[in-house]
Parts: sequence; structure tokens; C-alpha cells
Amino acid sequence: MTIKAFVIGHPIAHSRSPLIHGAWLAQHHIDGSYEAIDVAPDHLPAFFDRLRAGEFAGGNVTIPHKEAVFALCDSVDPLATTIGAVNTLVVRDGKVHGTNTDYLGFLGNLDAGAPGWSDGGRPAIVLGAGGASRAILVALRSRHIPVILLNRTRSTADRLAAEIGGDIRTGDLSDFNALAPLAGLVVNTTSIGMHGSRFDGFDLGQLSPGTLVTDIVYAPLVTPLLADARARGLPVVDGLGMLLHQAVPGFAAWFGIRPEVTPALRTSIEATL
Ligand code: ATR
Repeated sequence: MTIKAFVIGHPIAHSRSPLIHGAWLAQHHIDGSYEAIDVAPDHLPAFFDRLRAGEFAGGNVTIPHKEAVFALCDSVDPLATTIGAVNTLVVRDGKVHGTNTDYLGFLGNLDAGAPGWSDGGRPAIVLGAGGASRAILVALRSRHIPVILLNRTRSTADRLAAEIGGDIRTGDLSDFNALAPLAGLVVNTTSIGMHGSRFDGFDLGQLSPGTLVTDIVYAPLVTPLLADARARGLPVVDGLGMLLHQAVPGFAAWFGIRPEVTPALRTSIEATL
């Protein structure tokens, strides 16, 4: 019997997930399918009825449903609750379980792109305290990496730090230059690079040699932050790998095989950006 999976969103045409999962299905000769389904918010409960009826093994959830699905799932992973978003559904015995694989995608991307990155015990500077920051903070907490959380609006960073817990100190973006020498990693979780903008007044020359710089945005692939870091000879990892690696646990849960993020897969997705 064909095993079926999906990504639901509204709109959904832009999603690259069908390309990623389609490539893995073909590579492993699996009798399965992965389709993009446009589900309007009003139709989400009816879609969950289809899930409970066993039509699908599971799937991904994207904008605007990542928060709304909480109330519809039969169970939700505690980490997804902390992150505040469900991006992956797994159906077992007529019950729908919600989880979040973004934090694993973040870790998988850095582990592949910069092996040993978390070994030094140096703090990570995380830029931004919005929705996307939560998965990164959970990821860093899971590796016991101290965090310096800098945000334009300091009070938002303070609230988020208190909520996530663990070793997080907070500051303003204007604190970057003073704190930069301490960092072993810099992560941009804001959307500031998407339109070619830079952080005002940041001097990447204050970072210690070897400090890894990463951005979770992948369009453009090389954000101004990554370009500036590269120009200074710092190691960088772009955000496309996070998209690819977050897909691995879902595929494994639905289709029973843990797929690999190969250079060929990356190249094929990069060609669509
Ligand atoms: P997402 O869910 O994608 O993370 P968000 O919740 O709107 O989006 O969060 C956006 C983050 O980017 C916030 O940390 C925001 O800072 P504020 O809390 O001060 O709003 C940050 N951000 C957005 N635009 C920014 C800009 N031009 N300069 C600096 N920070 C910016």
C-alpha cells in the first residue's frame, strides 16, 4: 500500500518540501507520495478528520497553521510546546501527534557544516527574539551552550529568556560589539537579511578568529551578515541546510528510512531559490 504524506499550508505553492521528500522517495524506491495540499484555516478540522481516518502517515505543517494545529492534535511534544509551533505531524493508530523538527534541523545543519562547532563551550550570540528564535534557543539549550540573546526590543528578549530558561543573558543589539569577543557562534534569527539589510553598527572584527556565523534565512543564501563574516575569514553556514535537515526526522517517522542530506540534494534545492 502506498504510504502517503503531505505538507499543508495556505498558500502552499512555494513549499520546497515536496522536492526534498520526493527526491528521497525516489532514491530509496519507496512506494510513497508526498503532496502539497492547500488547506484554508476553516478546513483544518476537516483535514484532521482525514488524518484520523488513516489516509496519511503524517506530514508537515507550515504557515499559517503552525500554531492552530496545537488544539487539533491528540498529543504534542513538550519541545514543540516550548517552541510554540508544530511543523510535523505523525499519525499512529488513528491519533495525531504533533512535534517540531526545526531545532533538530538547526543542529543537524551545523553538525554537518561545521563539525565540532559545539565543543568549545563558548557562548552563542543569538540575534532576535521572535518566533524563529525559540527553536534555536531550545537547540542550544539541548547542547548546554550558554546564550547571549540580543534583540532590538530588549524587553522581548528578557521575556523569552525567562520562558525558555537555562543559561541565557540578554542585551540590546548595540551590545554586540562589546560581547562579540566572547562568542563561539553567532546566529541571526531575524528577517533582517532577507531584503539585503545589515545590522547597524556591527563590527564583525570584534569576533574571535574561528567564530562560526550562521543565518537561518536561506533566501538569499548568502545574507549580508554571512557575506561580511566570510570577507573577514570567519567560517559560515547558511540556512538552506536547516530546511533540509529539519525534513529528516519527519521522513524517517512516516516512511521508516532515515534519509541523508547529500550535496546533490542541496544543489537541486538551491537551483530553485
Ligand atoms: P519570526 O517569527 O520570523 O521570528 P517575528 O516574531 O516577527 O518573526 O520576530 C522578528 C525578530 O526580528 C524580532 O526579534 C525583531 O525584533 P523586535 O522584537 O525588536 O521587533 C527582529 N527584527 C525584525 N526586523 C528587525 C530590524 N529591522 N532590525 C532589528 N531587528 C529586527
